[in-house]
Amino acid sequence: MKSGMMAGVAMVLLGMTGAAVAQDVIAQRREGLRGMGRQMEAIKAVTDARGDTRPLVERVDAMIAFYRGLPALFPAGSGTGQTRALPTIWSDWAGFEQANTNMVTALGALRTAAASGDVAATTAAFGQAGATCGGCHRPFRGPAR
Ligand code: HEC
Repeated sequence: MKSGMMAGVAMVLLGMTGAAVAQDVIAQRREGLRGMGRQMEAIKAVTDARGDTRPLVERVDAMIAFYRGLPALFPAGSGTGQTRALPTIWSDWAGFEQANTNMVTALGALRTAAASGDVAATTAAFGQAGATCGGCHRPFRGPAR
């Protein structure tokens, strides 16, 4: 019975079209990126209030972990459907990876600043990180539709 179930699962998986798999990964990355937007808002709330930046380290760590995994959320063939991902991601994969590496680097600097408790340094590093989001969106993300 167990092997019968496994065979059934395998048949369902084989029956899924590549497009269905692509829609799953698109939904997953969009949800993750919305989460990054919320993290940035939460960090901004603290720097705007000139609050204690040290607890922000945990948020920044979560962001770094997400961006380390970001390229894997853009497999070939996931550029159509409910997505703003531009074809340039796959035609310039090295550039896309570089934009993502820049993000991880900027978040590393933000982490260091936040951990120091220095609000001015954290605010500056936050601004840099925000600009680095844009550094990927400009070449690789299309308009909302
Ligand atoms: C390496 C490239 C890259 C970096 C870095 C990046 N993004 Fe994005 N972002 C994208 C792409 C590509 C999309 C479109 C994804 C899609 O529609 O499939 C996107 C979409 C989004 C969305 C819309 C999600 C939705 O569909 O509702 C938000 C919000 C977002 N990014 C926030 C951020 C924030 C905040 C940062 C910086 C902390 C950031 N992104 C950094 C590439 C990037």
